[in-house]
Amino acid sequence: MDSVTKRYPDGTVAVDRLSLEIPDRSITVLVGPSGCGKTTTLRMINRMIEPSEGTILIDGKDSRQQPVNTLRRSMGYVIQNAGLFQHRTIVDNIATVPRLLGWKKDKARERARELMDRVGLDASLAKRYPYQLSGGQQQRVGVARALAADPPVLLMDEPFSAVDPVVRKGLQDELLRIQAELGKTIVFVTHDIDEAVKLGTMVAVLRTGGKLAQFAPPAELLSHPADEFVEDFLGADRGVRRLSFFPSTGLELTMAPVVKAGGGAERAATDAEFLLVTDADGRPLGWTRPRDLAADGQLLPYGRPFVAGTDSLRAALDCAVLSPTGWAVAVDTDGKVTGVVSQQTIAQAIRGAHDEGRTDADAKVTG
Ligand SMILES: Nc1ncnc2c1ncn2[C@@H]1O[C@H](COP(=O)(O)OP(=O)(O)OP(=O)(O)O)[C@@H](O)[C@H]1O
Ligand SMILES: [Mg+2]
Repeated sequence: MDSVTKRYPDGTVAVDRLSLEIPDRSITVLVGPSGCGKTTTLRMINRMIEPSEGTILIDGKDSRQQPVNTLRRSMGYVIQNAGLFQHRTIVDNIATVPRLLGWKKDKARERARELMDRVGLDASLAKRYPYQLSGGQQQRVGVARALAADPPVLLMDEPFSAVDPVVRKGLQDELLRIQAELGKTIVFVTHDIDEAVKLGTMVAVLRTGGKLAQFAPPAELLSHPADEFVEDFLGADRGVRRLSFFPSTGLELTMAPVVKAGGGAERAATDAEFLLVTDADGRPLGWTRPRDLAADGQLLPYGRPFVAGTDSLRAALDCAVLSPTGWAVAVDTDGKVTGVVSQQTIAQAIRGAHDEGRTDADAKVTG
């Protein structure tokens, strides 16, 4: 987008000289407060709205030089509440664009069923109508429908805003998986900064009046907000959120206070304040004080462990904060304890991460 402006007939400037280079085969998120011009920007990309000034180039070609139908077919569009055709079955909703493109009914339905699988919808839902599906399922249908003709670009306008946080997390994970598998270029609108940080390879923060406040990878946004507006928008816990971008790999774990149930009484002599008791396979059972170990007393809960290496420093910190002992439990992917780590050690690692934080922009860690 090269210096694109949209002025509505009543004089409202919805987008003001916006320049953005949207990378292909990744997710770019447009985020900002209500009315800042996100939807207008998205719709100018497929020319549902025509820019007043400026140029939008797609693969280097001026979008005005392409027939609008060709342009729109190369871009799937997904909106909040999915916008499904209520009188059509799920399979026929998804087959809409292939049918418009002249595919035979059977072939289009076959493709639709393939896509249902791809977006995590059970085949048994194919013959239902939209009102017979949950909100989250409808949203998946919306994504499948947008993917049906295999367009290189997906435009998504707050697609997951209407569903509850748990379903929403599932949809976000699914989108990340689909994007990794299919390599689509996705432009995703949201006003939820957490969603933006989770999904975006690049994030454009817009301010009211349709001006670009910052365009950066999420880690950079969190470490170096361009100005006070971006900082406010990122919220008070930006520092903690930023820890999601640092791996827990470097944390120094210790097995010293870890004992197996039944066989560990002799270890009670250790000077640790708490011992972590595991079962015979090494899976955590809970914490105890050394003197209570032999007494067969109640164990303190160990909270939610983190997966050492895979999970981020944020996940490790969360475990330590939730732990009644202040120690976080690290496990491998089988759930077996690989060590424990104190809040102090995590705090040290966090300080280290912040010091080297200037080159972290590309790293993205799950958890
Ligand atoms: N057809 C229109 N005529 C005049 N003004 C409009 C029109 N459509 C949108 N606007 C205005 O343009 C601005 C940007 O609107 P837009 O819908 O792009 O915002 P948005 O960022 O998507 O907001 P939201 O988060 O609430 O969806 C708003 O001030 C809106 O009132
Ligand atoms: Mg909008």
